Amino acid sequence: MDGRTTSAPLVRALRGERGPRLPVWFMRQAGRSLPEYRALRAGGDMLQACLTPELASEITLQPVRRHGVDAGIFFSDIVVPVLLAGLPIRIEPGRGPVLDDPIRSASDLARLRPLDAEALEPIRAAVALTVAELGSTPLIGFGGAPFTIAAYLIEGGPSKDQARARAMMHADPQSWATLLDWCADITGQFMRAQVEAGASAAQLFDSWVGTVSALDYERSVAPHTRRALAHLDGLDVPRIHFGLGTDRILTQIAAFDVDAIGIDWRIPLDEASRVIGDTKPLQGNIDSALLSAPWPVLREHVDDVLRRGQRAPAHVVNLGHGVPPETDPDVLTRLVAYIHEHDAASRE
Ligand code: CP3
Repeated sequence: MDGRTTSAPLVRALRGERGPRLPVWFMRQAGRSLPEYRALRAGGDMLQACLTPELASEITLQPVRRHGVDAGIFFSDIVVPVLLAGLPIRIEPGRGPVLDDPIRSASDLARLRPLDAEALEPIRAAVALTVAELGSTPLIGFGGAPFTIAAYLIEGGPSKDQARARAMMHADPQSWATLLDWCADITGQFMRAQVEAGASAAQLFDSWVGTVSALDYERSVAPHTRRALAHLDGLDVPRIHFGLGTDRILTQIAAFDVDAIGIDWRIPLDEASRVIGDTKPLQGNIDSALLSAPWPVLREHVDDVLRRGQRAPAHVVNLGHGVPPETDPDVLTRLVAYIHEHDAASRE
């Protein structure tokens, strides 16, 4: 908000401008595949690391230093605000968020307490430390979309198709709406705290929304996503929506008050842009699976992504989903250099 990152390639692209350099960052670039991350974590608890400002800040900076990406993504997790609001959620290594006592009925809703603004202090401190180090490189803040967070709370852990969540949506619409509003508010507060502390953009992750029908999405999910995004009103930073399996609901997503849309690997960027009438910058969508393919195969795929991305008003290069844990970090470094070079070359 103090203007340090206003002319950064990422911020310009999210605003719809095509600048001198094509920005690139990777979802889940912090942690996971980096040896320096594993050394720092050394078996410590994941969520505890998120709430230790020096540690969260250092882990955020690691991939920026190593790969030369155009943005940092704040090291935290979509379930951090759930924990800060007092629900005993934990992350099981290699599995994901687990809540032993899931929220499944009207009486369970009594356990949902408001998120106290003071509880977000470690988040603000970590972001402030990070942006001081990043200088003119933007930090992206984020939150989980209400559906994706609620799916963990209802299922009690990761699930294949969020069947219990989708059943509750229809069987108990009132409890569903109360739960999703609560998720919208805590995730909205979490994102707002990051932006107020210095993040230059905010991304909402709706990772599991691909299992919801277009009709259910419109009726029972989108209103809560809008509520989460409204927490950012009045803050002058670009907003990104990212979901997996969103090809059926892209026009609904494009109608949100967001500046850019993240696209997974299932639909080409030129097609996605056509569907939404070429109205918003797109982010994506290199297939993470190809990070383990031989370089010429990966390069050809990346060339195709860059070519198709030219149809959109602007393009932020990214993967179609997160960096897989087994990724060779050197491939990511090479990819960043290639994308920066390629773009310069295509302008000559
Ligand atoms: O670079 C980054 O993006 C770092 C920050 C970040 C994490 N999680 C750290 C993390 C972000 C943006 C997330 C978002 C997140 N968390 C999502 C949305 C993005 C997506 O991947 O779809 C979701 C669905 C979660 C929930 C979650 N957290 C799962 C399913 C898991 C376990 C699987 C895994 O990723 O290993 C986590 C744990 C988690 N969150 C780790 C990290 C670095 C791994 C924990 C560890 O290293 O012990």
